[in-house]
Amino acid sequence: MKILMVCLGNICRSPLAEGIMKAKAPQDFFIDSAGTISLHEGKHPDKRAVITAANYGIDISKQRSRPITEADFEKFDKIYCMDVDVLADVVSKAKNENQRQKVSLFLEALGDHQNAEVPDPYWGQMNDFEDVFHLLERGCESILKEILH
Ligand code: 4NP
Repeated sequence: MKILMVCLGNICRSPLAEGIMKAKAPQDFFIDSAGTISLHEGKHPDKRAVITAANYGIDISKQRSRPITEADFEKFDKIYCMDVDVLADVVSKAKNENQRQKVSLFLEALGDHQNAEVPDPYWGQMNDFEDVFHLLERGCESILKEILH
């Protein structure tokens, strides 16, 4: 199973989602993350995300931001988007129905409500990163339940 986590900049939410999913998923899963913009390409995740993950024993410091590519739609089995804008952007890049069906909203697996979004902590404070971390943990657990049930 190959899973791609996608947000806007690939420096806050999807790097955290990648790190959390790597910590929770079976060893033979391949997990990666990407952004819909290339503004931060090559950069490590936001320091606040790195610190938040490190507080829970997860090292995301070596990840580097990259934009999603055409090849990702073939390589990955599932592509999870952090909010509805990202979802719309990623869906618009899909070339066919098979690729489109790989794409969904990350929090959909929680089943609480449709269109649930992982809030962007980029303009926020440490506690926003903390809240996002726990939301991502819940989302990753639900996704794994769905995949492994
Ligand atoms: P992310 O957060 O999409 O969770 O990585 C953001 C990072 C950068 C920007 C916006 C959101 N930005 O506007 O540069």
